[in-house]
Amino acid sequence: MAPRKLAAGNWKMNGNLAALDEIDVLIAAQPAPGCDVLICPPAVLLHPLKARVGDKAIALGGQDCHAKASGAHTGDISAAQLKDAGAAFVILGHSERRADHGETDAVVAAKAAAAHDAGLTAIICVGETEAQRDNGQTLALIASQLDGSIPEGATATNTVIAYEPVWAIGTGRTPTNDQIAEVHALLRERLGGRIEDAAQVRLLYGGSVKPGNAAEIFAIANVDGALVGGASLKAADFGPIIAAL
Ligand code: G3H
Repeated sequence: MAPRKLAAGNWKMNGNLAALDEIDVLIAAQPAPGCDVLICPPAVLLHPLKARVGDKAIALGGQDCHAKASGAHTGDISAAQLKDAGAAFVILGHSERRADHGETDAVVAAKAAAAHDAGLTAIICVGETEAQRDNGQTLALIASQLDGSIPEGATATNTVIAYEPVWAIGTGRTPTNDQIAEVHALLRERLGGRIEDAAQVRLLYGGSVKPGNAAEIFAIANVDGALVGGASLKAADFGPIIAAL
């Protein structure tokens, strides 16, 4: 059986309390059976968003967590704190965190282990830069990032992988369908060596997913959904993407 489809919205450092009105529209548009919807707002909005969503079928997630469970780490948030605020998922190793905060694969793996310990599902991001693609390094780079970023104990339940080419994020550019299929096939095959139920791991594509290209991307082999940035901020955009799952 194919994994359940997932449309995950990453609000990044956007949104405020007023933006939560968008959620009411999404709550009204329930996803199809077999499909899940996730919103990852800035951490300060998790708790009020949870109150807004209630027991409706929209999951919430954080955008990062610390590798430690607690302690003297000013400005950081633990996985348990995310869970306490209503999160079930956490995005880890996004290319913006790898670039802005120097996060290595080992750091991402440690954070993912912490997320698992707290009962969160880790969405582990991998993806090549444009230079790496131009130099023919994409598959080797993705394999290396995947191997280094997945902790011991990863399963299809507690781990989701998001393939996000850095050059496709926020640019309006996307890889060809064949290029996406090639990377996702690699991810599936490589996970087989690490995770017993690798066929059930959800593999998301991320990078300039819009209402106009979502259905075509979701039809690609081994694409089980999307990690959506800009188009997740407005229900008028995210709603049709959810409907395309
Ligand atoms: O996490 C989401 C990705 O970075 C994609 O962002 O949909 O704005 O290109 P985007």
